[in-house]
Amino acid sequence: MARIILTSVCLLLALAPFSFAADGEGEGKGKGKGSGRPVTTIHRDVAIVGGGAAGSYSAVRLREEFGVTVVVVEKDSKLGGHVNTWVDPATGRGFDAGVQNWIEINNASSFFERFGVAVQPNVRSVLDQHFVDFATGTRLTNYTPPPTADRSAALRRYLAAAEQFLPILEPGWWNFPEPSQIPVDLLLPFRDFAAKHNLTAGIPQIFATTGFGKHNFLDSMTLFLMRSFDFSMARTLLGLEANFVPVSRRNQDLYDAISDFLGPDALTSSTVTDAQRLNGNGGATLEVYNWATGTTTRVVAKKLLFTVAPTEENLKPFDLDGDEKSAFDGLYYSSSVVGIVSHPSLPLNASVVNTPAAAQPDNWVAAVPSYPFTARFENYPNSTYYRVIAVGDQTFTKEQARDVIQGSFDRMVAAGTLQQTTPPQDLTFHLLESHGPVSASASKQVVDTGIIQKLNGLQGSRSTWYTGAAWSVHLTTSLWRFTDTVLSRVVASL
Ligand SMILES: Cc1cc2nc3c(=O)[nH]c(=O)nc-3n(C[C@H](O)[C@H](O)[C@H](O)COP(=O)(O)OP(=O)(O)OC[C@H]3O[C@@H](n4cnc5c(N)ncnc54)[C@H](O)[C@@H]3O)c2cc1C
Ligand SMILES: *[C@@H]1O[C@H](CO)[C@@H](O)[C@H](O)[C@H]1NC(C)=O
Ligand SMILES: *[C@@H]1O[C@H](CO)[C@@H](O)[C@H](O)[C@H]1NC(C)=O
Ligand SMILES: *[C@@H]1O[C@H](CO)[C@@H](O)[C@H](O)[C@H]1NC(C)=O
Ligand SMILES: *[C@@H]1O[C@H](CO)[C@@H](O)[C@H](O)[C@H]1NC(C)=O
Repeated sequence: MARIILTSVCLLLALAPFSFAADGEGEGKGKGKGSGRPVTTIHRDVAIVGGGAAGSYSAVRLREEFGVTVVVVEKDSKLGGHVNTWVDPATGRGFDAGVQNWIEINNASSFFERFGVAVQPNVRSVLDQHFVDFATGTRLTNYTPPPTADRSAALRRYLAAAEQFLPILEPGWWNFPEPSQIPVDLLLPFRDFAAKHNLTAGIPQIFATTGFGKHNFLDSMTLFLMRSFDFSMARTLLGLEANFVPVSRRNQDLYDAISDFLGPDALTSSTVTDAQRLNGNGGATLEVYNWATGTTTRVVAKKLLFTVAPTEENLKPFDLDGDEKSAFDGLYYSSSVVGIVSHPSLPLNASVVNTPAAAQPDNWVAAVPSYPFTARFENYPNSTYYRVIAVGDQTFTKEQARDVIQGSFDRMVAAGTLQQTTPPQDLTFHLLESHGPVSASASKQVVDTGIIQKLNGLQGSRSTWYTGAAWSVHLTTSLWRFTDTVLSRVVASL
């Protein structure tokens, strides 16, 4: 409801004639010309749009390591983006529906310790797997998942094939080859890459870990798939790299602590409604509207660091030029929705995994459902709650996801796979959060036009720098490592 109201308020603001008042140093109150609303003006070295993984991390690093003044503009009422922690009101126990665990890259756990969030090694809980075709609701009677040894061998082959590209892919695509020089393997649809490197036995696990986040997993270009299932993830699954979780099992704890640290430097419940960006040292001026308080803040910054997905909608207030439009128009995204549900009919200690019947008996490449799909209902250990994930293309909404999830459940009941209660009841949704748009990708045709170079070419132009999932491996700690490479450039440009 608040969001809907917000949209119309933003539209009104955007329509109101507005020009930027002369910048004075220091803080001050004035009136936004034309809008007639009180405006507080603040001055910062760097204005950061988005307070998720990339934005929060950037704010801390810039302020603490580089002594740079910052402000974060976050549209949600809290920092943290994709973590989605739900706390059971009955017991106080935390359940993470988004981010599950953190790969130990670049000493990431010390970042948690710095904020007083104790961490421990992640121990995977072993659940029974029930393979059900969610299109029909029927439990598969003749499906054999890849044996562990074959699965690991396939992952090792993935790693070996992928690692030769490390120098051009990590920690970012700064030195990415011109279109004619891109290794052919990276341009293959993942389906063909998997066939070429005999990875079939690894497909169900790659899909279940992070691959599901791409609505077109098997048809996705290998280049972009490697940003969703990267070297570190393969290494983690093979036990070659450590990963950890907060002892509290509430990933939100980290971002709540960052929020305390940033204090008034984090403008939550806020969006940019108008912006002016200049070349060279001209800086950026943003008008930031807080939908909770109805107040407007003018941010005058030397540089803008844009960390949210560079979609048309998110960039609307920023008056894109032709180069920016043409680069960002080339990207497409997926949307995943995660939730926590309960229902007495769902099996305890089990993960009910959507597996198309065509995957039987061991046709693993077919173990990937077509979108939109529910990936699985996964029981949180020692609880009656289930993590659910539904995935679709960029237009997939939370409302559609709820229908897709409920539909999957209903078909399992209709097919007799699950026993309905008397009287019948729907799933109870305790949490449902949209993660979209994510998994930025481009078609082969667009990659051939040099989109990677075009995107890199935007870094620093019009006083604007970029990080976030669209620019990097979209796993938090890999993204932090990439973000470090952006931050050093931002600081050098101040
Ligand atoms: C289901 C799921 C599970 C995942 N599990 C893991 C995991 O186990 N381990 C791991 O390392 N990574 C995991 N990830 C990936 C990780 O969450 C992302 O890599 C990371 O959150 C990306 O950070 P970001 O800053 O780019 O985006 P986000 O974290 O999404 O942050 C973007 C922020 O910007 C805000 N925002 C959006 N639009 C605007 C706007 N117009 N103006 C202002 N603010 C805006 C959003 O509210 C959000 O807070 C998972 C992702 C998903 C979807
Ligand atoms: C990680 O960071 C902590 C705290 O800054 C430091 O004490 C430790 O030596 C670091 N470890 C590594 C392996 O860099
Ligand atoms: C391909 O992988 C399978 C296991 O899935 C294995 O049995 C077979 O030996 C592999 N073939 C080659 C050529 O490596
Ligand atoms: C689930 O697993 C736990 C721990 O192994 C066990 O105590 C419990 O009985 C199991 N519950 C069911 C319904 O199997
Ligand atoms: C679940 O309960 C079992 C048995 O009490 C315990 O050993 C295990 O650590 C618990 N797991 C979680 C995730 O709470």
